[in-house]
Amino acid sequence: MIQLDEVTFKRPDGIGYRHVLDGLSWSVAAGEQVALTGESGSGKTTLLNILAGLLTPDAGSVLINERKISHYNTTELALYRRTIGMIFQHYQLLSPLTVADNMAFQARLNGRSVSHGDIAAMAERLGMAAKLDAYPSQLSGGEQQRVGIARALLNQPRMLLADEPTGNLDSVRSQEVLELLMALCKEQHVNLIMVTHSRALAAQLPRLVELRDGRIHE
Ligand SMILES: Nc1ncnc2c1ncn2[C@@H]1O[C@H](COP(=O)(O)OP(=O)(O)OP(=O)(O)O)[C@@H](O)[C@H]1O
Ligand SMILES: [Mg+2]
Repeated sequence: MIQLDEVTFKRPDGIGYRHVLDGLSWSVAAGEQVALTGESGSGKTTLLNILAGLLTPDAGSVLINERKISHYNTTELALYRRTIGMIFQHYQLLSPLTVADNMAFQARLNGRSVSHGDIAAMAERLGMAAKLDAYPSQLSGGEQQRVGIARALLNQPRMLLADEPTGNLDSVRSQEVLELLMALCKEQHVNLIMVTHSRALAAQLPRLVELRDGRIHE
């Protein structure tokens, strides 16, 4: 359960401050899958970063499973961040590591043990079983994004935040990645919040919201 109350976040804009999020209230039920849309600069990435505990709001509260993360100290935030999966438009893979090691990277960084069996099962699910020993530079964009998905999910997150995960993919690959994300999140009972500029993709998620004027519009 995600509950935001009157969240305000401002950024310096050269003259004064711009309220990127302006009294934003929103709730998302456990396991719910949501498409987050909005014009460039509307604050979508900012909102994901607040949910991930990477940015702290200037005012208002953020409750995740009854815990007020907006009032966490740095130690509590560091622990909280380990429970979040993030997927990015530009994949952010580590080029000297193999596909298998990239997949396990976040979980291992967080001190979770990931067996070869866990990696192989996830790779199989994502159609990447034959590529486990390859390096990121040897993969297509769609394959690299599958590694990004595996990396986020092998960490067993409580919530998956995806920031334009299909932004660099053609429409066929985008559709495949969307279907994988939705199916895997459903199986693992993980909330999915996915930013996308694609109307066609957004319409396939059970819930669609727009960020406009610093607030959420259903
Ligand atoms: N580090 C920063 N310093 C100052 N302003 C920033 C910073 N990061 C973002 N902003 C501003 O905050 C606003 C919201 O940015 P954000 O990245 O959240 O938008 P977005 O909806 O994700 O846009 P896009 O669709 O282009 O990714 C923008 O006006 C942006 O210029
Ligand atoms: Mg953004």
